[in-house]
Amino acid sequence: MSMRTHYCGQTTEAALDQTVSLCGWVHRRRDHGGVIFIDLRDREGLVQIVCAPEQADVFAAAESVRNEFCLRVTGVVRSRPEGTINNNLKSGKIEVLCQVLEVLNPSVTPPFQLDDDNLSETTRLTHRVLDLRRPQMQNNLRLRHKVTMEVRRYLDDLGFIDVETPMLTKSTPEGARDYLVPSRVNAGEFFALPQSPQLFKQLLMVANFDRYYQITKCFRDEDLRADRQPEFTQIDCETSFLSEQEIRDLFENMIRLIFNKCLSVDLDAKFPVMQYSEAMALYGSDKPDMRVKLAFTELTHVMKDVDFKVFAGAANMVGGRVVGLRIPGGGAMPRSEIDAYTQFVGIYGAKGLAYIKVNDKAAGREGLQSPIVKNIHDAALAQIVELTGAENGDLIFFGADKAKVVNDAIGALRIKIGHSEFGKANGLFEDVWKPLWVIDFPMFEYDEESARWFACHHPFTAPKDGHEDLLETDPGACVAKAYDLVLNGWEMGGGSIRIHRADVQSKVFRALNIGAEEAQLKFGFLLDALQYGAPPHGGLAFGLDRIVTMMAGAESIRDVIAFPKTQRAQCLLTQAPSAVDEKQLRELHIRLRATEPVVKA
Ligand code: AMO
Ligand code: AMP
Repeated sequence: MSMRTHYCGQTTEAALDQTVSLCGWVHRRRDHGGVIFIDLRDREGLVQIVCAPEQADVFAAAESVRNEFCLRVTGVVRSRPEGTINNNLKSGKIEVLCQVLEVLNPSVTPPFQLDDDNLSETTRLTHRVLDLRRPQMQNNLRLRHKVTMEVRRYLDDLGFIDVETPMLTKSTPEGARDYLVPSRVNAGEFFALPQSPQLFKQLLMVANFDRYYQITKCFRDEDLRADRQPEFTQIDCETSFLSEQEIRDLFENMIRLIFNKCLSVDLDAKFPVMQYSEAMALYGSDKPDMRVKLAFTELTHVMKDVDFKVFAGAANMVGGRVVGLRIPGGGAMPRSEIDAYTQFVGIYGAKGLAYIKVNDKAAGREGLQSPIVKNIHDAALAQIVELTGAENGDLIFFGADKAKVVNDAIGALRIKIGHSEFGKANGLFEDVWKPLWVIDFPMFEYDEESARWFACHHPFTAPKDGHEDLLETDPGACVAKAYDLVLNGWEMGGGSIRIHRADVQSKVFRALNIGAEEAQLKFGFLLDALQYGAPPHGGLAFGLDRIVTMMAGAESIRDVIAFPKTQRAQCLLTQAPSAVDEKQLRELHIRLRATEPVVKA
C-alpha cells in the first residue's frame, strides 16, 4: 500500500467502509474521556480521526500526539453518527476509525495557534512556515498559482512567447532606486537588478519575436507600503504592430478571463476608459476608486475675487486649485467627525478643511451654515451651490492650495468618506468590482525641487500623434500613448506604445535633460537597435501580487507572497539582509564606510 491513499480534506462518503491511509498534521486533538478525536489537516483540508480505547496501541499513541505532529493514519471510513455531521467540511459526513497511527515526525510546541486570527505580522513573518500552513495562506498561494496558469494559457493561445531576460543587468530607469550587485570579475563595477524588463522586451520586438511575455521578478528600492514590495512580480508583455486600443482590448480580456476562471466573477463587458485629465479633475487621482460615488467640483475660477484669503490665494496662485467635495446627507455629520477629517487631510499637507452645510438653499446666504460664508460674496456662494449640485442637508468640503496638495488631500478624503460607515449607510459606496482604464497620461511631470522634467511613465513611451513637436516647445503639454488599468483604486498595471524611432527617442532624452553623450552611455544599445528597422511596438505590465491581493480580498500584497519582506525591506524568516564577512567584501573590491555594522531596529 502506498504511503497515502487520499488527501485528508478530500476523504468523503465515496470511500465509505474502505481502508484509507492519510498523511497530515494534527490540527487539534480532543480528548473526550474514553475517545480521542484528532482533526488531521493537509493542504486539502481537515478530516476527523477517531482513536478508540479498544485499540490500546493506537490510543496510547493518540494520547502522546500534540498539535502540528506529522502523522500517518490508516483506518476505516465510516459515517459520522447523527448530529455530529459538519457541513462546513468536505469530509464532514465521515470520520476515520484509526487502526494504525504512525508519528512520522513530532513537532515542538508551535508559538501560536494556527487558527488564531489576531496574529501580529511580525509573528507571522518570523514563523512564516507555520503561517503558510494556515488555510488562508494556502488559499492565497493556490489562487496565485491559478491566476498565473490562466495567464499563461491565455497568452500562449494568442502566440505570446515566454522569454527570460537577465536579472544581472544595467539599470533601467523606472523611477525607483536600483538594487545593485557588485561585480567580482570587474572591479568597481556593478550590475543592477531589473526594475522591469522594459528595455529587453523592446529589444525582443526589434528582434522579431512579435509577442513576448514573462512572469518575472522586478526589484525596486523604494519606500514600501501595503501595495509595494522591494521584489515583486510582473506579468510583463510586449507586442509589435498593435495599436493602443488593440493592446488594451487584448489585456482587458485577459483580466476578465482570470476573474471569471478563478473567482467566477464577471467584470464589466467593456471596461470604462477615462482620460488622465478627467481623473485628476474629478478625483484628484490617476487611480480613482470608482466604487466611491463622490467627485470634486472645480471652483478655482469662482474663488478668484472672494475675501476669504485661503481660497482667493490658492485660486490666483500659479498651479493653485480650489475644489469642493459635495457630501450628500453630510449636513448630519457631527462636528467631531468634521474635526477628525480636518486632521486627516493634514497628513496630506492640507492646512485646513473648510466646509459649508447647506440647510436651505432657497434662502441664499442665510441658508448656508459655515464660518467662512461671511467672507464669500453672494455670487460665489450661488455658484458653489449650483456647480456642486448641493441639496438641502448636504455638506460641502473645500480644499484650496497647490493643486498637488488639494488632489492628494481631498482625493484621500473622498476615499475615506466613501469607505466610512457614513458613506456606506448613505449610498456613497458601491461594493462591486470597478475596473477603469486611465489613458492619455502626460509625457512629463515637472519637479520643482530639481527644476527639471521627469517621464511620467518611462522615457521610452511614445508621444501622441501630432505631439512630437511639443517635446521641444512645450513638454508639459505633451500627451503620451500611455495607459493604466485601475481596479477599485489600485493600479493593477500600466504600459504604453513605445518610441520606435531613434530620432524621437533622442528628442525625449533631450527633453529629460539627458545629453547625447549620457544617452549613448546609458541607452546606446537601445538607440542602436532602433536603427535596424525597429517595428512599432507597445505593451504593458501587470502587478501579479496586486492582482492576486485584490482577488483574495487580502489587505496587503504580503499576504499573497510566500516569503515577503517587511515594511523595512527585511526578511524576518532568514534575517536578510545581513552582514557578510570581510573576505567576501574584499573579493568584491568593497570597503564599508561605517566601521560598526548598522544596528537593526
Ligand atoms: P510600472 O512601473 O507601472 O510599469 O509597473 C507595472 C506594474 O507593476 C506593479 N508594481 C508593483 N507591485 C508591487 N510592488 C511594487 N514595488 C511595484 N511597482 C510596480 C504595479 C504596476 O502597475 N515597464 C513598465 C511596464 C510597461 O510599460 O510595459 C513598468 O514597469 O501593479
Ligand atoms: P481660518 O480662516 O484659518 O480660521 O480657516 C477657516 C476655515 O478654512 C477652517 O475651517 C479651516 O479648516 C479652513 N481652511 C484653512 N486653510 C484651508 C485650505 N488650504 N483649504 C481648505 N480649507 C482651509
